[in-house]
Amino acid sequence: MLRSLVNRIRGNGKKDEWRTKEKEVLARLDESKLPVHVAIIMDGNGRWATKRGLPRGMGHRAGVESLREMVTTCSQLKIKYLTVYAFSTENWKRPQEEVSILMDLLVEYLEQELEELHQEKVRINALGKIEQLPTAPLEALKRAMDKTCQNDGLVLNLCLNYGGRHEITDAIKEIARKVAGGELSWEAIDERVVANHLYTAGMPDPDILVRPAGELRISNYLLWQLAYTEFWLSPVLWPDFRRIHLLNALVDYQKRHRRFGGL
Ligand code: FPP
Repeated sequence: MLRSLVNRIRGNGKKDEWRTKEKEVLARLDESKLPVHVAIIMDGNGRWATKRGLPRGMGHRAGVESLREMVTTCSQLKIKYLTVYAFSTENWKRPQEEVSILMDLLVEYLEQELEELHQEKVRINALGKIEQLPTAPLEALKRAMDKTCQNDGLVLNLCLNYGGRHEITDAIKEIARKVAGGELSWEAIDERVVANHLYTAGMPDPDILVRPAGELRISNYLLWQLAYTEFWLSPVLWPDFRRIHLLNALVDYQKRHRRFGGL
């Protein structure tokens, strides 16, 4: 399977150099120890644009290219879940123009990629209070989720209007409602019950969190789910983040000794 991935890595000029490096890193990757769930905070789009004297929206647009490459790579590696932070509950505080650009990019991404993602058997899923999104992105998202809901390949979780504290608060409310209604006894509440009331119900927790752009924060992302996740941080800005960086992250991940609090 890794050989088929190598065969699909194409390029020329500078990319030839990448291709060689990618093959080298792939050779060090153990197919049997790949993570099941990869989470990414796509950070640094604004800085990438500012460094080039471009409007921030151009950074987000360039960031979509990185997302495309990560989706293809995870799908080819047969990773089961890829969860990306695309728009947080706090991102509404950004200037209206930037929020609109992000929403437009989401619609564009879903419309342009849907057929290919469907062919690749990718299942598109959303985590967050998506009903509060504007009509066009919400409709595009629903179409994409409906069309791909039977696919059994990579599950692409797009975190949209997502906040970890909101997610946990909503779970608590729902559990409290069930207890008040006699549907659930308070003694039965355990970690499994809480996990089953999160947006990620039924999914395993992320094995690795990739955070580019040199930030050392959790930024209200998957607060419950990241309890024992391995962090992989990189100074590379998201629009410059390429397959080679993800492959390096996976090789490093495979060297970690995961103890989950044990020995
Ligand atoms: C953080 O970078 C990034 C975001 C808030 C948005 C991420 C969105 C995309 C990559 C593209 C749109 C997504 C989809 C699914 C089409 P930042 O703007 O905070 O960067 P900065 O820290 O350098 O300012």
